[in-house]
Amino acid sequence: MAILEIVLEGDPRLRQKATKIKTVDGALRRLAADMRETMLAAPGVGLAAPQVGVTRRMIVVHLPAGYAEEGDPEIDWTLINPEIVRAQGREVDQEGCLSIPGWVGDVARADRITVKGMDLDGKGVRIKAEGWAARVLQHEIDHLDGILYVDRLEPDTTLRRVSDLVDEDALEDADDEDRPEPMVDNSAAHRSDETAA
Ligand code: NI
Repeated sequence: MAILEIVLEGDPRLRQKATKIKTVDGALRRLAADMRETMLAAPGVGLAAPQVGVTRRMIVVHLPAGYAEEGDPEIDWTLINPEIVRAQGREVDQEGCLSIPGWVGDVARADRITVKGMDLDGKGVRIKAEGWAARVLQHEIDHLDGILYVDRLEPDTTLRRVSDLVDEDALEDADDEDRPEPMVDNSAAHRSDETAA
């Protein structure tokens, strides 16, 4: 396996519509394994093939056990030709992207989706996802159509620098070690470090 170079915003391959995969072969399985290793090393929670310069329709997603709530099982998906066949609800939350490092912004996504696609054995699969898992899937599938999350920013919001969010936290921690529970929930700021996709 190998860690691949992640393509950054500005590269035309991120803006192409990726081609459908017809055959699952050894080369594709190797690419999937390399993509997964690249995602975990970044670290990130999702990666689409165009982000490693391959404009074909394959994504990988990994969320650790307990990613949103205690008891959430670990998610480890590789999906070929993923397609959203059902979408319900709407939720706004913060997203980042490994191809736009250092930034996060607010995006509305469907809260519950059903995705169909193919696994690495070439078998059809159907996945139901909600919340954060549904968000990551939608973000990755967007990549296959040349869409980046910055295209979908909520009106009246702007991108925020992850370093600013982290610096504010560090400053607060240094100033007041015995500070009470923060009145503002800044968990999203901590989370943003690990949730680029
Ligand atoms: Ni991304």
